[in-house]
Amino acid sequence: MQAPPVAVTAGPDLVLRLLDEDDAVALQRAIDESRDHFAPFMPFATTDPSGLAFRQSWIRQGREAFFTGQRFQYGIIRAGEVIGGCSIDPVDDRTASIGFWVHVEHVRQGVASAVAAALTQAALEAGCEIVRIRHDRANAASGSIAARLGYERIGEEPHSIDAPGQTGTSVVWTLTRTV
Ligand SMILES: CC(C)(COP(=O)(O)OP(=O)(O)OC[C@H]1O[C@@H](n2cnc3c(N)ncnc32)[C@H](O)[C@@H]1OP(=O)(O)O)[C@@H](O)C(=O)NCCC(=O)NCCS
Repeated sequence: MQAPPVAVTAGPDLVLRLLDEDDAVALQRAIDESRDHFAPFMPFATTDPSGLAFRQSWIRQGREAFFTGQRFQYGIIRAGEVIGGCSIDPVDDRTASIGFWVHVEHVRQGVASAVAAALTQAALEAGCEIVRIRHDRANAASGSIAARLGYERIGEEPHSIDAPGQTGTSVVWTLTRTV
Protein backbone atom coordinates (compact mmCIF):
# COMPACT_ATOMS: atom_id res chain seq x y z
CA MET A 1 0.00 0.00 0.00
CA GLN A 2 1.01 3.63 -0.40
CA ALA A 3 1.12 5.97 2.56
CA PRO A 4 -2.32 7.33 3.51
CA PRO A 5 -2.61 11.10 4.12
CA VAL A 6 -1.13 12.59 7.29
CA ALA A 7 -4.59 13.92 8.19
CA VAL A 8 -7.94 12.21 7.58
CA THR A 9 -11.37 13.74 8.26
CA ALA A 10 -13.60 11.36 10.23
CA GLY A 11 -16.54 13.67 10.98
CA PRO A 12 -17.58 17.32 11.38
CA ASP A 13 -15.39 17.78 14.47
CA LEU A 14 -13.26 14.66 14.20
CA VAL A 15 -9.84 14.44 12.53
CA LEU A 16 -7.19 11.73 12.52
CA ARG A 17 -3.81 13.39 12.34
CA LEU A 18 -0.17 12.42 12.53
CA LEU A 19 1.00 13.63 15.93
CA ASP A 20 4.15 15.57 16.69
CA GLU A 21 6.10 15.93 19.91
CA ASP A 22 4.05 18.98 20.92
CA ASP A 23 1.06 16.62 21.30
CA ALA A 24 2.81 14.45 23.89
CA VAL A 25 1.30 16.14 26.97
CA ALA A 26 -2.27 15.92 25.65
CA LEU A 27 -1.84 12.34 24.46
CA GLN A 28 -0.34 11.22 27.76
CA ARG A 29 -3.16 12.91 29.66
CA ALA A 30 -5.76 11.05 27.55
CA ILE A 31 -4.01 7.74 28.29
CA ASP A 32 -3.57 8.42 32.00
CA GLU A 33 -7.22 9.45 32.42
CA SER A 34 -8.40 6.30 30.61
CA ARG A 35 -6.00 3.67 31.98
CA ASP A 36 -8.68 1.75 33.87
CA HIS A 37 -10.91 1.68 30.78
CA PHE A 38 -8.11 0.47 28.49
CA ALA A 39 -6.46 -1.99 30.86
CA PRO A 40 -8.70 -5.03 30.19
CA PHE A 41 -7.78 -5.21 26.50
CA MET A 42 -4.83 -2.89 25.76
CA PRO A 43 -1.47 -4.10 27.10
CA PHE A 44 0.09 -0.63 26.68
CA ALA A 45 -2.24 0.77 29.35
CA THR A 46 -0.33 -1.24 31.92
CA THR A 47 3.13 -1.48 30.40
CA ASP A 48 3.80 2.03 29.04
CA PRO A 49 5.37 4.43 31.54
CA SER A 50 3.59 7.75 32.23
CA GLY A 51 6.62 9.96 31.66
CA LEU A 52 6.59 12.68 29.04
CA ALA A 53 10.00 11.64 27.66
CA PHE A 54 8.62 8.18 26.87
CA ARG A 55 5.57 9.63 25.07
CA GLN A 56 7.68 12.08 23.06
CA SER A 57 9.97 9.28 21.96
CA TRP A 58 6.93 7.10 21.14
CA ILE A 59 5.54 9.89 18.93
CA ARG A 60 8.94 10.36 17.28
CA GLN A 61 9.14 6.65 16.47
CA GLY A 62 5.57 6.76 15.18
CA ARG A 63 6.49 9.59 12.79
CA GLU A 64 9.52 7.65 11.53
CA ALA A 65 7.38 4.55 11.04
CA PHE A 66 4.81 6.65 9.14
CA PHE A 67 7.35 8.18 6.76
CA THR A 68 9.08 4.84 6.12
CA GLY A 69 5.74 3.12 5.44
CA GLN A 70 5.94 0.63 8.33
CA ARG A 71 2.93 1.79 10.31
CA PHE A 72 0.51 4.70 9.99
CA GLN A 73 -0.36 5.96 13.45
CA TYR A 74 -2.67 8.93 14.16
CA GLY A 75 -4.08 10.85 17.07
CA ILE A 76 -7.86 11.20 17.20
CA ILE A 77 -8.63 14.92 17.50
CA ARG A 78 -12.14 15.98 18.52
CA ALA A 79 -12.89 19.71 18.46
CA GLY A 80 -9.15 20.36 18.71
CA GLU A 81 -8.54 18.00 21.65
CA VAL A 82 -6.53 14.74 21.54
CA ILE A 83 -9.05 12.07 22.61
CA GLY A 84 -7.51 8.88 21.32
CA GLY A 85 -5.23 7.05 18.99
CA CYS A 86 -5.57 4.79 15.99
CA SER A 87 -3.50 3.18 13.29
CA ILE A 88 -3.33 1.44 9.96
CA ASP A 89 -0.82 -1.40 10.14
CA PRO A 90 0.32 -2.97 6.86
CA VAL A 91 0.27 -6.79 7.16
CA ASP A 92 1.37 -7.80 3.66
CA ASP A 93 1.19 -6.42 0.09
CA ARG A 94 -2.61 -6.63 0.03
CA THR A 95 -3.71 -6.38 3.65
CA ALA A 96 -3.68 -3.84 6.48
CA SER A 97 -5.05 -4.06 9.99
CA ILE A 98 -6.72 -1.14 11.79
CA GLY A 99 -6.88 -0.40 15.51
CA PHE A 100 -8.24 2.37 17.75
CA TRP A 101 -8.76 3.52 21.33
CA VAL A 102 -10.94 6.36 22.62
CA HIS A 103 -10.69 8.45 25.82
CA VAL A 104 -13.14 7.10 28.39
CA GLU A 105 -15.09 10.38 28.56
CA HIS A 106 -15.81 10.19 24.82
CA VAL A 107 -16.95 6.58 24.51
CA ARG A 108 -20.42 5.44 23.41
CA GLN A 109 -20.90 8.47 21.18
CA GLY A 110 -19.99 6.84 17.87
CA VAL A 111 -16.39 8.08 17.85
CA ALA A 112 -14.70 4.69 17.29
CA SER A 113 -17.25 3.80 14.60
CA ALA A 114 -16.50 7.04 12.74
CA VAL A 115 -12.75 6.55 13.19
CA ALA A 116 -12.87 2.95 11.95
CA ALA A 117 -14.91 4.02 8.91
CA ALA A 118 -12.37 6.75 8.06
CA LEU A 119 -9.38 4.42 8.58
CA THR A 120 -10.99 1.78 6.38
CA GLN A 121 -11.60 4.30 3.60
CA ALA A 122 -8.06 5.69 3.90
CA ALA A 123 -6.52 2.20 3.74
CA LEU A 124 -8.58 1.28 0.66
CA GLU A 125 -7.69 4.56 -1.06
CA ALA A 126 -4.01 3.89 -0.30
CA GLY A 127 -4.23 0.67 -2.29
CA CYS A 128 -5.15 -1.95 0.29
CA GLU A 129 -7.31 -4.80 -0.98
CA ILE A 130 -8.23 -6.22 2.42
CA VAL A 131 -8.70 -4.29 5.67
CA ARG A 132 -8.75 -6.31 8.88
CA ILE A 133 -10.04 -5.74 12.40
CA ARG A 134 -8.90 -8.22 15.04
CA HIS A 135 -10.05 -8.08 18.64
CA ASP A 136 -10.32 -10.31 21.65
CA ARG A 137 -13.57 -12.30 21.75
CA ALA A 138 -14.56 -10.54 25.00
CA ASN A 139 -14.28 -7.08 23.39
CA ALA A 140 -17.90 -6.78 22.26
CA ALA A 141 -17.65 -3.10 21.29
CA SER A 142 -14.97 -3.79 18.66
CA GLY A 143 -17.05 -6.59 17.19
CA SER A 144 -20.10 -4.39 16.82
CA ILE A 145 -18.02 -1.68 15.14
CA ALA A 146 -16.71 -4.19 12.57
CA ALA A 147 -20.21 -5.57 11.93
CA ARG A 148 -21.74 -2.10 11.63
CA LEU A 149 -19.16 -1.13 8.97
CA GLY A 150 -19.90 -4.17 6.84
CA TYR A 151 -16.85 -6.25 7.74
CA GLU A 152 -17.23 -10.01 7.40
CA ARG A 153 -16.48 -12.18 10.41
CA ILE A 154 -14.04 -14.72 9.02
CA GLY A 155 -13.16 -16.69 12.13
CA GLU A 156 -11.27 -16.95 15.37
CA GLU A 157 -7.63 -17.57 16.17
CA PRO A 158 -5.61 -18.00 19.36
CA HIS A 159 -3.44 -15.18 20.71
CA SER A 160 -1.28 -14.74 23.77
CA ILE A 161 -3.04 -13.21 26.78
CA ASP A 162 -1.36 -9.85 27.35
CA ALA A 163 -4.09 -7.98 29.27
CA PRO A 164 -6.44 -9.08 32.08
CA GLY A 165 -9.73 -8.95 30.11
CA GLN A 166 -8.46 -11.05 27.23
CA THR A 167 -9.64 -14.62 26.66
CA GLY A 168 -6.77 -15.74 24.40
CA THR A 169 -9.06 -15.97 21.38
CA SER A 170 -9.21 -13.26 18.71
CA VAL A 171 -12.11 -12.66 16.37
CA VAL A 172 -10.99 -11.67 12.87
CA TRP A 173 -13.06 -9.52 10.55
CA THR A 174 -12.16 -8.41 7.02
CA LEU A 175 -13.51 -5.99 4.48
CA THR A 176 -12.46 -6.59 0.88
CA ARG A 177 -12.28 -3.88 -1.76
CA THR A 178 -14.94 -4.39 -4.41
CA VAL A 179 -13.75 -1.97 -7.14
C1 LIG B 1 -13.82 -0.19 22.17
C2 LIG B 1 -13.84 1.32 21.99
C3 LIG B 1 -12.84 1.68 20.90
C4 LIG B 1 -15.26 1.74 21.57
O1 LIG B 1 -15.24 3.14 21.32
P1 LIG B 1 -16.60 3.98 21.21
O2 LIG B 1 -16.21 5.30 20.64
O3 LIG B 1 -17.30 3.92 22.50
O4 LIG B 1 -17.42 3.13 20.13
P2 LIG B 1 -18.79 3.58 19.46
O5 LIG B 1 -19.43 4.66 20.26
O6 LIG B 1 -18.52 3.83 18.02
O7 LIG B 1 -19.65 2.28 19.67
C5 LIG B 1 -19.50 1.16 18.85
C6 LIG B 1 -20.37 0.04 19.34
O8 LIG B 1 -19.81 -0.52 20.52
C7 LIG B 1 -20.78 -0.53 21.54
N1 LIG B 1 -20.06 -0.34 22.78
C8 LIG B 1 -19.28 0.70 23.13
N2 LIG B 1 -18.73 0.48 24.33
C9 LIG B 1 -19.19 -0.72 24.75
C10 LIG B 1 -18.97 -1.51 25.89
N3 LIG B 1 -18.17 -1.10 26.88
N4 LIG B 1 -19.60 -2.72 25.98
C11 LIG B 1 -20.41 -3.15 24.99
N5 LIG B 1 -20.63 -2.46 23.85
C12 LIG B 1 -20.05 -1.26 23.75
C13 LIG B 1 -21.71 0.60 21.21
O9 LIG B 1 -22.95 0.46 21.82
C14 LIG B 1 -21.78 0.45 19.71
O10 LIG B 1 -22.61 -0.65 19.39
P3 LIG B 1 -23.71 -0.55 18.26
O11 LIG B 1 -22.97 -0.31 16.99
O12 LIG B 1 -24.36 -1.89 18.31
O13 LIG B 1 -24.60 0.58 18.67
C15 LIG B 1 -13.48 2.07 23.31
O14 LIG B 1 -14.32 1.64 24.37
C16 LIG B 1 -12.04 1.84 23.72
O15 LIG B 1 -11.17 2.62 23.38
N6 LIG B 1 -11.79 0.71 24.44
C17 LIG B 1 -10.45 0.37 24.87
C18 LIG B 1 -9.54 0.06 23.70
C19 LIG B 1 -10.06 -1.04 22.80
O16 LIG B 1 -10.62 -2.05 23.26
N7 LIG B 1 -9.83 -0.86 21.49
C20 LIG B 1 -10.21 -1.81 20.49
C21 LIG B 1 -9.14 -2.84 20.31
S1 LIG B 1 -9.51 -3.88 18.92
